[in-house]
Order: sequence, then structure tokens, then C-alpha cells
Amino acid sequence: MKILITGAGGMLGRAVALDCRARGDEVFAHDRASLDITDAARVADVFARERPDAVINCAAWTDVDACERDPARAFEVNSGAVEILAARSRRAAAAFVTVSTDYVFAGDKRGFYTQRDDPRPRSHYGRAKLDGERRAQAATARCVVVRSGWIFGDGGRNFLSRVVSLARTGAPLSAIADAYGTPTYAVDLAARLRLLAELDLPGVYHVVNAGAGASFYEFAAAALARAGLDETALESVSMDSLARPAPRPRNSRLRCLVSEAIGLAPLRDWRDALGEFVGGGGGG
Ligand SMILES: NC(=O)c1ccc[n+]([C@@H]2O[C@H](COP(=O)([O-])OP(=O)(O)OC[C@H]3O[C@@H](n4cnc5c(N)ncnc54)[C@H](OP(=O)(O)O)[C@@H]3O)[C@@H](O)[C@H]2O)c1
Repeated sequence: MKILITGAGGMLGRAVALDCRARGDEVFAHDRASLDITDAARVADVFARERPDAVINCAAWTDVDACERDPARAFEVNSGAVEILAARSRRAAAAFVTVSTDYVFAGDKRGFYTQRDDPRPRSHYGRAKLDGERRAQAATARCVVVRSGWIFGDGGRNFLSRVVSLARTGAPLSAIADAYGTPTYAVDLAARLRLLAELDLPGVYHVVNAGAGASFYEFAAAALARAGLDETALESVSMDSLARPAPRPRNSRLRCLVSEAIGLAPLRDWRDALGEFVGGGGGG
């Protein structure tokens, strides 16, 4: 397939480009410098030149607290620009896959969030991402929305991706023990995004690694254990003690009814994926 990837300078975009190239696709991988997705004219030029069969949108403004301070910009990148890409995909007769987030959910449910749960985002980041889902679906029928959560991988700037390297510096480490999500390896998510682009079955999917999910504390402790580092140095804190600008869901674990119904194999357990990431030198 000819696949156009946006946000290819980011953690997930890089993994998607690697996966597609390994499968023999013709890949057009754009970072922000080569394709700013808010620039409609530039998007039109790129589509006209590259004529993709499928588009995988990994570009987003992912700084949740910065989005809280600048909602207009959050909506421009995480919603308006997604609509631009979706509309252009329709005109190019390309399948459109866009990545969304577990933060579209409020987090007050016990158990896993499925497609039957109403989104109720608590932050501007979550509201913008949900708006992006809906505008993309309105702009093209061939729209695959993939919600994921707690992504870790090479090149990630988030706590999950960096916990091992932080621990190696001897920095004091703390992790939230009372917020739960489904850790997801960028490599595994990338392969599933590529498959969903090929299947071209429109809908909303939840794509996460298997397992019961974890708290940040459990996730960080598991990463340190696999790296042979001292997990007892990890301090546990409560979510409320951090007083960050953007509210987060307390529980945003995801489960995918659609993948189960159509017989897609579950991704491996997050602990196995974490072992591969840390064992391969990932996380520092
Ligand atoms: N990380 C997680 O835990 C997580 C959880 C759930 C969902 N997601 C979703 O997963 C997707 C990928 O996230 P990620 O973790 O790979 O984040 P990331 O590493 O921050 O990658 C996002 C990329 O998008 C780029 N970008 C920002 N604004 C852009 C624009 N206007 N035009 C083009 N590119 C732009 C960023 O470039 P700059 O760095 O130059 O700004 C960055 O390279 C996003 O849709 C995110 O919402 C992430």
C-alpha cells in the first residue's frame, strides 16, 4: 500500500513508519516540519503529489496540561486539522485512520471502557480529541478511529517511556498509585494501525495491550524490575497530590468489543511487551 503517515517525528509515528516499511509499503512519513497538519494548502499539495491509498494520522498536540492552558490551539491541532486530513482522504479515495485517546472518558467507571460507554472528557485535550474523532467521521465514511492509552516506546517523552532512564540517573522517582490505565507498546499499536488501514473497516476501535491494566506505580515498578533496578526506590503518590492544570481520568482502561467481534487477535500482555521494550534497551 501507499501509506501517508503524519506526526512521524513522534513516538507512535516513528513506530508506524518502521512497521509499514518492514511490510514493504511505500511510505510517505511526514514530521511537523514537512507537513503541518493545520496547514490545509500544504495538506492538499502533499495529497496531490503522493496519492496515498491510506493515511495514518499520528500527529497531535499531546501535552495535556499545555492544551488546558490553550484550548483554541488544542482544538486547532487535535480536531480542526484532523478534519482537514479526513476530508482530503475522502477526496483522494484513501482510507483514513486517526489515533485518539482514553482521555475521552471521564474515568469514574469501574472496569474497562468499551465502545458502549459514552465519552465524557474532563480536559480540553480530551474534548479536542473527541471533537476530532467526530469531525473526521463526518468528513469521510472511510474513517477508522483508534483510541489507545498509556503508550510507551522509543522516543517517547512521557513518564512511561522514560522511567528506566530516569531511575538510572538516580533521580528520585514517584508514580501515581491510584490512577489506572492500559499500558500499550507503540510497536504493537503500530502493527494494529497498519492492519486496520488495510482492513478499511470504518468504526471506533480500542487498541491496547492485553492484561488487567495497571496503575502508574505498578507500571513503573514492573519496568524497573525488568531492568534489574531497585523498585523500592519508587515512591507512591496519589493523583490528587500532583495538582496538575488538566484533570485526568482516574480509570481509563480500555477494551475493544469490535475487535473481539470481528476476531482480531488481542495484542500480547503489556508485561510481555514491556519486557521486550526494556530488554531491547528501550526506556534507557
Ligand atoms: N502517549 C500516550 O500515552 C497516548 C495515549 C493515548 C493516545 N495518544 C495519542 O497517540 C497519538 C500519538 O501520540 P505520541 O505519543 O506519539 O505523541 P508525540 O510523541 O507527542 O507525537 C506527536 C507528534 O505530532 C507532532 N505534531 C504536533 N503538532 C503537529 C502539527 N500541527 N502538524 C504535524 N505534526 C504535529 C509532534 O511534533 P512536535 O514534537 O514537533 O510538536 C509530534 O512529533 C496522538 O494522537 C495522541 O493523542 C497518546
